[in-house]
Amino acid sequence: MSSQKPVLAVLTSGGDSPGMNAAIRSCTLAALQSGYKVIGFTHGYYGILQNKYIELHEHVVRDIIHCGGTILKSARCPEFKEDESQQQAAKNLEELNVKALIVIGGDGSFNGLIQLSRYYKGQVIGLPGTIDNDIDGTDYTIGFATAVETAIEAVDKIRDTADAFERIFIVEVMGRHSGFLALNVGIASGAEQIITFENFINPGKELKKIAEHISLCKKQRGMSSYLIVAAENLWPGGVYRLAEDLGNYANIKCTPCVLGYIQRGGNPLAKDRILATKLGVGAIRAIDNGKTMLMIAECNRDIKEVSLAIAVGHTKTVNKDLLQAQESVLDIAALAKQQVL
Ligand code: F6P
Repeated sequence: MSSQKPVLAVLTSGGDSPGMNAAIRSCTLAALQSGYKVIGFTHGYYGILQNKYIELHEHVVRDIIHCGGTILKSARCPEFKEDESQQQAAKNLEELNVKALIVIGGDGSFNGLIQLSRYYKGQVIGLPGTIDNDIDGTDYTIGFATAVETAIEAVDKIRDTADAFERIFIVEVMGRHSGFLALNVGIASGAEQIITFENFINPGKELKKIAEHISLCKKQRGMSSYLIVAAENLWPGGVYRLAEDLGNYANIKCTPCVLGYIQRGGNPLAKDRILATKLGVGAIRAIDNGKTMLMIAECNRDIKEVSLAIAVGHTKTVNKDLLQAQESVLDIAALAKQQVL
């Protein structure tokens, strides 16, 4: 590439999340100000492997802060786990004179970055972008707040039907290894039950717990709506099986509903746009200061630089207060004792 300016590259990888475009925008604008030529590889790590990129001029990113998805497209790239691909990527980056690479994505994408840095000697920085909020070292990931809001809107609508029919619904939300989405969506939508990684014992005990709670609610309230929010990938066979299992266990009839990919789309909330902007600017600051192998994070409202190894090496746990809050507000037996039902 014939350019006197140092080149900075950005890519988005893994599940898209609302706010990724805002992050591309802020990285680009801050990098242009720092004197870089900025390129964006398309389709995640495939872009590096196949030398597919676009130049990110100011006018390209000017009007994308409000858009969901990612203008750079995204992908999961299993080939990138192989040494050969990482070496090829390092070679391509060096040939393009890329001085620094920013990857916006989740822990899988950060692992790719760590592996790549064994061969690529430029600076590498990760920005946490996933609706799952499952990256340790940052309070929130880009996209989580919007995904929670999107899911709540959907669950509120399901509540209307559940109320109208006095029906039990099981709503499955995303978050394949962690319960941040399930717990936050469940609490904010007033779900009667939340089934998530953090409170799951085993299917037998869960069935008993749910069946008892449903029966207690029925006794206290009479027929009424009842919502169960469940994390994906948790119940063996999924929420359709859970509905069947509840039927077989206690003759409970419920309607399963998988929210699915609507949770990943849509315009980012202000919270995600602002987080993405702060993290993007933080990434360029770190690069300007010669740093590498970092994730830019937000902790207690401050922008922090966290080692990439820490970000992928630890499991982020859901705050116990959230679990306790849910259990306390839905303790039907305690409420009955106080005769407030
Ligand atoms: O990691 C984000 C996420 O949306 C998870 O919540 C979900 O399990 C997964 O991606 C789905 O991935 P894919 O788009 O590959 O089906």
